[in-house]
Amino acid sequence: MNSPEIADQIRNQHRPLPRYEGPQAWYGPDMALRRDEWLRAWTGPELAEIEAAVARVLERDLEILEIGREQFPLPTLEPVLHDIRKQVLHGRGFVLLRGLPVEHWSVRQAAIAYWGIGVHLGEACSQNAQGHVLGHVKDLGRDYHDLLARGYQTNARLPYHTDSTDIVGLLCWRPGKAGGLSSIVSSTTVYNEMAARRPDLAQVLLSAFHRTRWGEVAEGRSPWSEMPIFMPNDSRMIVSYVRSAITKGQKLPGVPRLTERQVEALDMMDALAEDPQLYLDMEFMSGDIQLLCNHSILHSRTAFEDWPEPDRRRHLLRLWLSCADGPALPEAIMRRDQDQSASGRPSGIRLPGVALKAPLEAE
Ligand SMILES: [Fe+2]
Repeated sequence: MNSPEIADQIRNQHRPLPRYEGPQAWYGPDMALRRDEWLRAWTGPELAEIEAAVARVLERDLEILEIGREQFPLPTLEPVLHDIRKQVLHGRGFVLLRGLPVEHWSVRQAAIAYWGIGVHLGEACSQNAQGHVLGHVKDLGRDYHDLLARGYQTNARLPYHTDSTDIVGLLCWRPGKAGGLSSIVSSTTVYNEMAARRPDLAQVLLSAFHRTRWGEVAEGRSPWSEMPIFMPNDSRMIVSYVRSAITKGQKLPGVPRLTERQVEALDMMDALAEDPQLYLDMEFMSGDIQLLCNHSILHSRTAFEDWPEPDRRRHLLRLWLSCADGPALPEAIMRRDQDQSASGRPSGIRLPGVALKAPLEAE
């Protein structure tokens, strides 16, 4: 069955909504018991290979942006990373890679190792209007309620949401003092549950919602994008959801007010994501790399408390990776993005004329 047919079927209120089976549709408590499947520690020889590649970059004094696959050879890890990418893009949608010895490294060494692993997984994309391809998730003292503040610049609890590329990766450089747990939920399961319990509300989320572009707008584009939350495509349910972008979009002139039913549907989306029967909590340790597929996973984190000393504060490095072999995507996602990666995939937030940058500190 092709995508328009599936979309027609879903829009037909008189028929039951389809359920999406497959590895993307998992439940948190079950996944917590299957930790061995998604938590992978680097082996000694793998770490030696990564460290040798980092040393090579340091010897040649390369900038982060000059590092491609050739400059960061990982011959024995290549097939391992290929398999990991497949699990993330086409399987359960996430993996936690443990054991990079970042406590013994400078931030530059950690960034090189992380970036080097990243170039073997996909193409790094800009994460904001400044062209940052290496992002820093750190409390910059910004207020989450500020219309232009992005959640990653605060210490607030972040509600479940998706980012804007195929894969979002976080490397934990410093975990912070307390809190800041990562929590993820299968958006395929959220859809399945809503379709089964309240098909009328699931229908609402199949239509477009206006979302702010956070002031990160290319010339000639509107300050908002329009996209449904549930987007059936091929045999997958592709989901894109950032409630704060919808709420903050309401303040933009020209954006229609949300209806009561739309608010009810969004409330149900949040309630399902926050259901302990659905989500999975994950602790971040120094050196952990978490990789998530944005099309099938929503992510969140709890609020956190930080150390007073600046060099001990919670600090994660973020990559947004676009992958040529990612799942087929609906038109609406392709239209949302203001630029595309070399392989024609959505490529995050890239404004024309803004050079890519990989800063080693939060800016
Ligand atoms: Fe995020």
